[in-house]
Amino acid sequence: IVDVKGGPDEGLDRVGLMIVVAGWVRTLRAQSSVTFIEVNDGSCLSNMQCVMTSDAEGYDQVKSGLITTGASIWIQGNVVPSQGSKQKVELKVNKIVLVGKSDPSYPIQKKRVSREFLRTKAHLRPRTNTFGAVARVRNALAYATHKFFQENGFIWISSPIITASDCEGAGEQFCVTTLIPSSREAVESPVDAIPKTKDGLIDWSQVYTFGPTFRAENSNTSRHLAEFWMIEPELAFADLKDDMACATAYLHILNLWGQPIGGAGLGCQQTVCKNNLPYLDLCLWHVRCSSFRLRSLIIFQDVKWGCDLQSEHERYLTEEAFGGCPVIVSDYPKEIKAFYMRQNDDGRTVAAMDMLVPRIGELIGGSQREERLEYLEGRLDELKLNRDTYWWYLDLRHYGSVPHAGFGLGFERLVQFATGVENIRDAIPFPRTPGSAEF
Ligand code: 4AD
Ligand code: MG
Repeated sequence: IVDVKGGPDEGLDRVGLMIVVAGWVRTLRAQSSVTFIEVNDGSCLSNMQCVMTSDAEGYDQVKSGLITTGASIWIQGNVVPSQGSKQKVELKVNKIVLVGKSDPSYPIQKKRVSREFLRTKAHLRPRTNTFGAVARVRNALAYATHKFFQENGFIWISSPIITASDCEGAGEQFCVTTLIPSSREAVESPVDAIPKTKDGLIDWSQVYTFGPTFRAENSNTSRHLAEFWMIEPELAFADLKDDMACATAYLHILNLWGQPIGGAGLGCQQTVCKNNLPYLDLCLWHVRCSSFRLRSLIIFQDVKWGCDLQSEHERYLTEEAFGGCPVIVSDYPKEIKAFYMRQNDDGRTVAAMDMLVPRIGELIGGSQREERLEYLEGRLDELKLNRDTYWWYLDLRHYGSVPHAGFGLGFERLVQFATGVENIRDAIPFPRTPGSAEF
């Protein structure tokens, strides 16, 4: 269908061709002397209007009601100019073959069906235009992600999914199967262990991973999944500023705002990354947790020093306080952040950053890592985490430790942001939430 309708003149240049379309019936309208069948073959979101009269081979199957919405068919015909106003060309059918009939209970009929209902039919919903479109955006974002990191000298690392370690130290992993809640440790190892080669073609000092992760947390919201995909870059010889610059450059390349946004003003940062990432013209706001500005902006009574920002606070910051710009909040109180984040000199904050975007709230969470052995051991002890469990992580600090930083971006939140779908369960083909793993 793409091939026929995708011509320079919406298919008019293809008039006269005989073609075959193999796809699924979206709608079928039988009139006294002519039947219209809208067929979609999955190649694009447009349907092919197929027009059939009684002289077409196989017409008896249409007439007898065997071919219905949802059925798979094979149609041969000639491309002709359309008399309808919805399309420039249509197919004058010579022959129709029913490949697989569809039971009348087919749930995706022409009338609009709700997203909630479609979630119970996740195996069939790719046949709808909305989910066809979301799948395409998801694909484009995955492609753009790899392109960005590949073009900026990052090596893609495959990280394990089964682990014995609670690498976030937050007890949110699935304990029965012990599936990985973040691949950060896997990407930290290569950046820690293999120093940058100044003249080498392969620059091991920047790596990333892009794979599934699992959390047994608070999954009953519109932005949490039990299984989600995460993009996690890690940069060696890098600090929090480099981390923020990398995250900003990446978002900038995805071009989700369509044009550079924001403007000059207090707190508006333009950053050039040390690691040769491109210069940025995406403006975003950057506020530190301890700054007066941040505190005065949050009008909520329940926000005090030391408490974590709830999603309504995050959304307030980006949607109201900063007028729809992405916002980076950095240097969080250490009590609410993971053990591996680097302690700041003030003794009460860590070099962490979250990037918040409108409608979603937190899209990215990252930090500079604690590269100093004694600080890391001290923090493990403070949090009563067992040093032995982290022996290999500590080893990386024993042998040639370097400052390094990284972040994680939740891919489904990115898809949610880019497409506008309200619920994260509609941003992944088969959502996994508590009690739903049947498909
Ligand atoms: O902020 P988080 O928990 O950070 C980490 O996992 C770090 N170890 C990443 C790193 O530094 N390499 O998660 C990172 C991002 C969040 O900002 C959010 O976008 C997404 O992952 N995320 C989820 N997405 C969907 N469902 C969930 N349950 C999510 N939990 C986190
Ligand atoms: Mg986070």
